Amino acid sequence: MEFSIRALAPATARTGCLVLGVFKDEVDTALTRAAQLADRAAGGAIRAALAQGDLSANPGSTLLLRRLPGLAAERVLLVGLGERKDFGEQAFRDAVGAAAKTLRETGARDATLFIADLKVGRRRLAWNVRQAVLGVRDAFYRFDQLKTQKKPPAPPLAALVLAVLGAPVTLQAQAALKEAVATADGAELARTLGNLPSNHCTPAYLADAARKLAAQYQLGLEVLERRDMEKLGLGALLSVTRGSREAPKLIVLHYHGAAKKAKPVVFVGKGITFDSGGISLKPAPEMDEMKYDMSGAGSVLGALRALAALRAPLNAIGVIPACENLPGGLASKPGDIVKTLDGQTVEVLNTDAEGRLILCDALAYARRFDPEVVVDVATLTGACVIALGHVATGLFANDQKLADEIRAAADDAWDRVWQMPLWEDYQEQLRSNFADMANIGGRPAGSVTAACFLSRFTKKLRWAHLDIAGTAWKSGREKGSTGRPVPLLVRFALRHAGRKD
Ligand code: BES
Ligand code: MN
Ligand code: ZN
Repeated sequence: MEFSIRALAPATARTGCLVLGVFKDEVDTALTRAAQLADRAAGGAIRAALAQGDLSANPGSTLLLRRLPGLAAERVLLVGLGERKDFGEQAFRDAVGAAAKTLRETGARDATLFIADLKVGRRRLAWNVRQAVLGVRDAFYRFDQLKTQKKPPAPPLAALVLAVLGAPVTLQAQAALKEAVATADGAELARTLGNLPSNHCTPAYLADAARKLAAQYQLGLEVLERRDMEKLGLGALLSVTRGSREAPKLIVLHYHGAAKKAKPVVFVGKGITFDSGGISLKPAPEMDEMKYDMSGAGSVLGALRALAALRAPLNAIGVIPACENLPGGLASKPGDIVKTLDGQTVEVLNTDAEGRLILCDALAYARRFDPEVVVDVATLTGACVIALGHVATGLFANDQKLADEIRAAADDAWDRVWQMPLWEDYQEQLRSNFADMANIGGRPAGSVTAACFLSRFTKKLRWAHLDIAGTAWKSGREKGSTGRPVPLLVRFALRHAGRKD
């Protein structure tokens, strides 16, 4: 879909569908400025429809009107915005989402959105633009490449104009549009990789995806094979892959957007393409969802894609440890002790706590790039889903300035995080009688002890950890990958490189 942003008047906009916002209010005061102008040109036809009670005006309700007199548009789509006083970030996103869903069902080939420039609290136009583009792209995303039958035809909507009323289109707004399209492309890549099942999306498939990005955007790429890992001593990663016949990969992707000597931002993404739990086998119900256990890897690829497409002014590196976690005759067994890349030993008390094992080696490997900061992204713990549900990503950091930067970027991207403690007090839960540490810390504070485990490998780094177990995908009827936290990673990297708008 082609997005653009333009200064337009609602009455004269030639478009397949004019999208207008309506607050929940008395008919005379419900209309947004753009809706008022359109109503006046259409001889009061919009207010007449509202007076008949045809739109509930609750956030997310819609009403499609055809061939109104006096307007150049073929259709008018009214979108309920809820109460004026409650109109904030969520209401804005709901309105965009509802408009996009309805547009999907109409025959319109193009549409003009007159809700993108509504004032949302203290947010600026650039914020609205990013959210509008991401919301529309989210609603139009489809994953049907593995269906051979009953594929619904693709909606004809090919162009979307974000209209600004009575104000010039700023350079910031144009830049926000570009950023949003690149971010949506990156999130879509992450989403599709997440949705692909593990018989398609193998570690080798992830390496191929990285190879394609490298070719398309001239990125540097190294892929470490099993024998390279053996030589280097990535004993923890190797212990996880032992039960699987799929070859493990350590994928390293380099993006250069700044001076050679500028220290890179390193993103590390968990790439377990299927997590059965290994010998500590998971229960059967919902085990299929463990195909999403490479969502951290997918989001790192998606973020690098976006940054490369934007030619962002920074150096960034993605490090992706990728393998399967399966039981088998050679698989790791509870009680096994393994040696990590940085020399510490780990007693594997539960083979299902595999994410931290591949990440500790990847984090130790990341040190060689002399990073400015390291951010790892992982579907690490079920405990994080219990703590924060599907709304906030868990944030842990050994550097409060970095944590604050990520919190600000997350709020800006509306891809939200909540900081959790990484206090010394929790470390003792990882005590082992036989090795330097155990790989599990018992049931209390499971997401904290997982982060504590990783912190033992990042002492010399400015490091943050994002637990996306609850936010990378949805279960139930809407089951599927979300593409989070690509918007957060992209916003963070751009802000870190000095772009705040
Ligand atoms: N990939 C899972 C985490 C997970 C679980 C994500 C459920 C999303 C939904 C991870 O590898 C895992 O199995 N973690 C264990 C750790 C435990 C054994 C200490 C968990 O959370 O149960
Ligand atoms: Mn697991
Ligand atoms: Zn896992």
